[in-house]
Amino acid sequence: MNFELILARSTDGTIGLEDGSIPWRQKRDMQNFKDITTGHVMVVGRTTWDTFKNRPLKNRTTIVMTHDPVKASADYLLSLGQDHKFPKYPPVIFVEHLDALHVDMLNPEHFLDSSNKPKPTMIIGGASIYRYALSELNVTRIHLTEIVIDLIGEKNVRFTDTFDKFQDRPQHATPTYGIDDDNHNPYRFRTLVLKSNVL
Ligand SMILES: NC(=O)c1ccc[n+]([C@@H]2O[C@H](COP(=O)([O-])OP(=O)(O)OC[C@H]3O[C@@H](n4cnc5c(N)ncnc54)[C@H](OP(=O)(O)O)[C@@H]3O)[C@@H](O)[C@H]2O)c1
Repeated sequence: MNFELILARSTDGTIGLEDGSIPWRQKRDMQNFKDITTGHVMVVGRTTWDTFKNRPLKNRTTIVMTHDPVKASADYLLSLGQDHKFPKYPPVIFVEHLDALHVDMLNPEHFLDSSNKPKPTMIIGGASIYRYALSELNVTRIHLTEIVIDLIGEKNVRFTDTFDKFQDRPQHATPTYGIDDDNHNPYRFRTLVLKSNVL
């Protein structure tokens, strides 16, 4: 399995707040997230999963990492029991270790491409899952959105890793876009790949 990280962070390394909220409004980044993750398997930490309010994202398989998968899964199933849309929801799997996953558990549409080769699995955060992925998993690519905003505060969740093993794919880097009605701070997109993978 190979993995790709997708994250947005501010100039000071903030990726969110302790209450799980994101302290900026950037519609184009949300669209970018949707474009990159749709049709894939995603891995998310339980704290970030809680912000989904038991509503998994469409056309994606969600793997939630938690040290108590039995409880997290029971909480989720309980919430679905009260919801008549339950059978339509995309799959969610709760695990403590990714080793517990078997390909048979994954929707082939999200796991395999049109040539039946495994697609990359998307690591969507938060901070503890990014750290875990970078130290333990075969991460080959990072989709990074840089938001130009300084957020000084004790309640910020920061992820300040410098991605030393990776380098930019210059053809994928955008200029810094300015502010508009849908994007309240300047921002730019970068794609980083493992140094050994740069052509
Ligand atoms: N800007 C972005 O791109 C972006 C993306 C995603 C999230 N965020 C932000 O990130 C923040 C949350 O980050 P966070 O670090 O506090 O929480 P997190 O990574 O979302 O989730 C942490 C939880 O994941 C589980 N976990 C972590 N490592 C594990 C491991 N090795 N094995 C098994 N389970 C593991 C544990 O769940 P249990 O406690 O259940 O054991 C842990 O408490 C929020 O503010 C969110 O908005 C930002």
